[in-house]
Amino acid sequence: MTPENTGTHGAVLTDPAAEPGAPVVELRGAGKSYGNIRALHGVDLKVFANQVTCVLGDNGAGKSTLIKIISGLHQHTEGEFLVDGGAVRFSTPREALDKGIATVYQDLAVVPLMPVWRNFFLGSELTKGPWPLRRLDIERMKQTADEELRNMGIVLDDLEQPIGTLSGGQRQCVAIARAVHFGARVLILDEPTAALGVKQSGVVLKYIAAARDRGLGVIFITHNPHHAYMVGDHFSVLRLGTMELNASRADVSLEELTNHMAGGTELAALKHELSQVRGVDVDELPEAGDLTAPVAPSEGKS
Ligand SMILES: Nc1ncnc2c1ncn2[C@@H]1O[C@H](COP(=O)(O)OP(=O)(O)O)[C@@H](O)[C@H]1O
Ligand SMILES: [Mg+2]
Repeated sequence: MTPENTGTHGAVLTDPAAEPGAPVVELRGAGKSYGNIRALHGVDLKVFANQVTCVLGDNGAGKSTLIKIISGLHQHTEGEFLVDGGAVRFSTPREALDKGIATVYQDLAVVPLMPVWRNFFLGSELTKGPWPLRRLDIERMKQTADEELRNMGIVLDDLEQPIGTLSGGQRQCVAIARAVHFGARVLILDEPTAALGVKQSGVVLKYIAAARDRGLGVIFITHNPHHAYMVGDHFSVLRLGTMELNASRADVSLEELTNHMAGGTELAALKHELSQVRGVDVDELPEAGDLTAPVAPSEGKS
């Protein structure tokens, strides 16, 4: 992606080149309350181009709330939200998209029976010919989808196959390539690996890295520290709505990250409780600080 194809939706963008190294997206003390439920509070986050920013946290930690603010689904109720250094407040996801912020949700909005290329262009179909004879430019859509997927290193046998026949991982990859094609500068992925097996997760992680290498700022939401650490440049851990850890890769090890996620003290308490249950040999359980062994990633619990 080049700076020229940003703002493809006609938005007036502040020149991203004017301030190299400045965050594309930034939250300062941001928070969100749903009525009197405070889902998110005092969150600081910076998202840079060419980096994967991982947002980790257990269920209910506030991850989805955080990305809903950035993607324009919800509005923050405290603090600041900036894009290219300017304060923003989006009313719709369309406004976020106009600023180059694209979101791939876990339950991908695809039409399962439509071919891959058709889903690639869903809602942004290419047409040809003058009105009222304008019709779909099928050839150009097929060719472009094929090129864009190949550019990302995604090889599918046949773009005519219904997207429903692809694996979950492949569908995530198509969605990533689509966002790149339509000029995203920031790509938000909400738990893209949560429902996937080990091998498919690996494939998705590969394309997260590919999107980063094409210059995007990627926000990767996950509750799996192993997945995060494989591609992450920066790690933010949410707990009960506040940012518990904000560290770049150089400052945190996988072990520390896993401990933050596992909640060392909570695990110790659980172990104590289990010791009172007959038939559980607590000495066989892992130590709180010993959870970094590559056990099967906790999948599908989002
Ligand atoms: N629309 C909503 N209305 C009320 N409470 C909500 C709403 N969405 C989320 N919450 C609450 O906010 C907290 C954070 O939720 P969420 O952002 O979905 O966490 P995560 O994605 O990390 O699992 C939870 O306590 C949840 O119950
Ligand atoms: Mg969530």
